Amino acid sequence: MQTKLSKIANETNLFLKKFIKNQKRSPLLQPMNYGLFSGGKKIRSKILVDVGKIFNVDYNNLIIVGAAIECIHSYSLIHDDLPCMDDDKTRRGKPSTHVKFGESSAVLAGNSLLTLAYEILVNKLLKTDYQTKINLVKKISECSGHLGIAGGQYLDLRYEHKKVSKKKIIEMEIKKTGQLFSFCCAAPLLIKKKNSKEIKIFENIGLEIGLLFQIADDLIDYTGKSFVVGKKTKKDEKQGKATLIGLLGYRNAIKYSENLIKRLNKRVSKYGSKSNDLIDTLEYILNRNK
Ligand code: IPE
Ligand code: IPE
Ligand code: MG
Ligand code: MG
Ligand code: MG
Repeated sequence: MQTKLSKIANETNLFLKKFIKNQKRSPLLQPMNYGLFSGGKKIRSKILVDVGKIFNVDYNNLIIVGAAIECIHSYSLIHDDLPCMDDDKTRRGKPSTHVKFGESSAVLAGNSLLTLAYEILVNKLLKTDYQTKINLVKKISECSGHLGIAGGQYLDLRYEHKKVSKKKIIEMEIKKTGQLFSFCCAAPLLIKKKNSKEIKIFENIGLEIGLLFQIADDLIDYTGKSFVVGKKTKKDEKQGKATLIGLLGYRNAIKYSENLIKRLNKRVSKYGSKSNDLIDTLEYILNRNK
């Protein structure tokens, strides 16, 4: 698993470096590169590649779409750490982008990474027809905006220090994290022009993978060591974050995630041995320590 993940991470970084190198220089590139190339796991790209394998999608295209996803993901982390949001000073084992470059640079670097994702998806390097590019851009926009990451982050902050129902916590986690995973699972089917029913099935699988990922992140915050995780831990409780651990307790949150992964494995294993990589990645998502 780790070897496969590192391979995807290296190839994605290589593509992004080349893509950025071919653009004109600007002073914002420094904080952008800092936030983008600081060593993220690239788990979203891995999920994309795993689903792409089920549907025989061209690997180069997957790396390119994954690069766009990682730009949006890195932007969301730069903004997530800002003082007006989670106010975190460490990310991926280094000072957060705003600590290193200042708040305004971090906001603008985040904005630029978000738009870079669109530049990548519409570029000729991605070998698809125009309609597919439009479909990809439409879907990634929905997953990032007020119905996706931004909307979920809004709820995450609004729910701080409040008693929030299980249904609302899940809805918030699905928006802030699940929607981007939903894009990862849908994109290969969009490229292969599958019918809307099949796309919907994978969108929903993605939402639940994202929920699993966020619950695992919350569990890591609860038990993990900062020097291993690369970000400050035990902070969700201090910041009054609404999480399933806070609502149901640690043991029950683990039980919830175990049921979730069981359900997911069942749905995914319908695709036979081609889904083995995806199943391995789900296992990794739940049992990782960073
Ligand atoms: C952290 O995501 C933010 C969440 C959505 C929980 P990752 O754990 O994927 O972050 P990196 O990219 O590996 O640093
Ligand atoms: C972040 O969730 C979700 C995003 C969409 C960025 P968290 O706030 O739990 O992520 P970490 O723990 O800071 O990485
Ligand atoms: Mg947050
Ligand atoms: Mg945070
Ligand atoms: Mg967290």
